[in-house]
Amino acid sequence: MKRIGILTSGGDAPGMNASVRAVARRVIGEGLEAYGINYGFAGLVAGDIHKIEYADVDDVIQRGGTMLYSARYPEFATAEGQLKGIEQLKKFGIDALVVIGGDGSYHGALALTKRGFNAVGIPGTIDNDIPDTDFTVGFDTAVNTALDAIDRIRDTARSHQRTFIVEVMGRNAGDIALWSGIAGGADIIVIPEKGYNMQEIADKLNNNREHGKDSGIIVLAEGVMGASDFAAELDTYGNFETRVTILGHTQRGGVPTAKDRVLASRFGDYAVQLLMEGKGGLAIGIQNNELVAEDIVATLEEHKHHTDLSLLDLNARLSTPR
Ligand code: F6P
Repeated sequence: MKRIGILTSGGDAPGMNASVRAVARRVIGEGLEAYGINYGFAGLVAGDIHKIEYADVDDVIQRGGTMLYSARYPEFATAEGQLKGIEQLKKFGIDALVVIGGDGSYHGALALTKRGFNAVGIPGTIDNDIPDTDFTVGFDTAVNTALDAIDRIRDTARSHQRTFIVEVMGRNAGDIALWSGIAGGADIIVIPEKGYNMQEIADKLNNNREHGKDSGIIVLAEGVMGASDFAAELDTYGNFETRVTILGHTQRGGVPTAKDRVLASRFGDYAVQLLMEGKGGLAIGIQNNELVAEDIVATLEEHKHHTDLSLLDLNARLSTPR
């Protein structure tokens, strides 16, 4: 083992740079060479590959985005794309690869593993929707970004007695909505794992009003529906003075939190450890604060991400007057 490659792929997530740094620093510290691959699997196929020196990852731990750039590249699902990728890895003498990203990125790592090339996946996505890990890199920062927005929206909602529908990202997972909603004291959190009943939501808002609470925050996960459609539907159940805020890609950027940086650093270090032990085809995760490595095939094909639905019950208990 001499050279280890690193790439980031799919949607960027705050903390990816901290992972790239950790991988590179551990690799270099072990007397090996680190190679960065730009633009994810697209760059791999194109041979956009360069050596990473120690100082190249200086001053990046605090930066959002990814210094290696990212791309969604469905072409890597084809045999042609995968074979070209392996050809490039061989050309640059790269022996093993760390892939930082979400679901699609893991599929790329799995494809390489199935073709006999050691690759491990680090979960990097704001969505927190990867199986076999309690948290993904970027989730904590995204939650805090959404929370900051909710706190601000609360000020204006209260001043005008309005009901705000705040749409957060998460793809098909409700984790960002749940965490930012609870932390932000939302009245109602709507997630795809559970669905909603608009009559019940209207009743709840009316009940709040009867108890002297005349403004409201509904945190809506994007996987349910768009916030504008949701508001239009709610408007047919009464006059709630609805307003819509879609947080969108603001949740993807910004300075990573300490929690994300530490998680990213632990994952990066562990990924190199596994590859040096000659292991591949693994999905790294954290469970009950312990680092784990699961078979990537099982992670992708058999296991499911479990959104903690007890948080929804918690929110209901904390935001329902009698
Ligand atoms: O997977 C991360 C994510 O930000 C999702 O929350 C969102 O649905 C999607 O990516 C947006 O993708 P894009 O940046 O390609 O528009």
